[in-house]
Amino acid sequence: FTAELDASDIEKGTYPHFMLKEIDEQPFVIRNIVQKYRNDDGSVRLDDSIRQAMSAADRVYIIAAGTSYHAGLVGKQLIEKIAQKPVEVHIASEFLYNMPLLSENPLFIFISQSGETADLRGVLVEVKEQGYPTLTITNVPGSTLSREADFTLHTYAGPEIAVASTKAYTAQMAVLTLLAVNTASARGIELDFDPIQELGIVASAMETLCDQKEELEQIARDYLATTPNCFFIGRAADYFVCLEGSLKLKEISYIQAEGFAGGELKHGTIALIEDGTPVIAIATQSHVNLSIRGNVKEVAARGANTCIISMEGLEQEGDSLVLPKVHEYLTSLTTVIPLQLISYYAALHRDCDVDKPRNLAKSVTVE
Ligand code: G6P
Repeated sequence: FTAELDASDIEKGTYPHFMLKEIDEQPFVIRNIVQKYRNDDGSVRLDDSIRQAMSAADRVYIIAAGTSYHAGLVGKQLIEKIAQKPVEVHIASEFLYNMPLLSENPLFIFISQSGETADLRGVLVEVKEQGYPTLTITNVPGSTLSREADFTLHTYAGPEIAVASTKAYTAQMAVLTLLAVNTASARGIELDFDPIQELGIVASAMETLCDQKEELEQIARDYLATTPNCFFIGRAADYFVCLEGSLKLKEISYIQAEGFAGGELKHGTIALIEDGTPVIAIATQSHVNLSIRGNVKEVAARGANTCIISMEGLEQEGDSLVLPKVHEYLTSLTTVIPLQLISYYAALHRDCDVDKPRNLAKSVTVE
């Protein structure tokens, strides 16, 4: 079943909010992306021109803003681990002021749900003028960034209406996975996992998590109903999801939320932990499971109200939620689902306008 998402999707249907609908659409979006980019033999199909541009680059520079920047952080790990190509990730609005020393043959990748973000366009215009190749990963193929870049990869998430981005983020990470896999095959790198199958497992895990709304609503009520602030901690890949989880919570519930690397909190920020401060820890990475749990103990000893989200095989008694197991490269795609839902329910409890948070625009077209 590969029906297109089209204009009819710009309706809420039975959903109270676009955000909730878009969260629930994520399993479908991931399956849709797999269908769009797979060959009959199960390999990944991308335009030859993109494959060649990735192969020719000695370093990839990812440029993005907001949630798309967080997808870029995960994309760096995916491309470096799977395709063994060095990647840097930069915030678009800072890039031209803090320009890194570029490699000899860079490829610039612009990640943007809307394809219209002015901060990205400023960088695109500048690097094009310098003659560097450019690729836009976007949900809107006819958008400015798509038209102006040399190549485009479509994220096929369907229209995203809620200001807080959800399905576009997971779609971006899925497409980045396929880009990494395609680049690896162009370089003759043997993979020890089947990306198409693993993304299918991710889609099923997402479905399971979307069915756990009651538990997640309860977590939102227990931890976030009245708090002025909240911390998310995680290590390795979980750290990047903490950044996205905290952004989601800030955007729609106005709770001051910060994502921290588990080991960094003690270098200053732990001073903010008081009796009852919520700390949500993500523990889905086997190689850092002990250390992140150590960090949870540190904050609990200082009075924090701790909530641990772990994964099958790594769970311990008392964990608030255990995620279905997915491939270690792809945990970010599933870990973010409970964080999106917790933010959604926290915003509801606090009577916030979930789909149209104050001061925010879906697409920011001024620098
Ligand atoms: C705005 C939106 C964010 C989004 C960011 C980047 O600030 O409110 O949700 O992540 O722009 O948007 P883009 O369309 O470039 O991904």
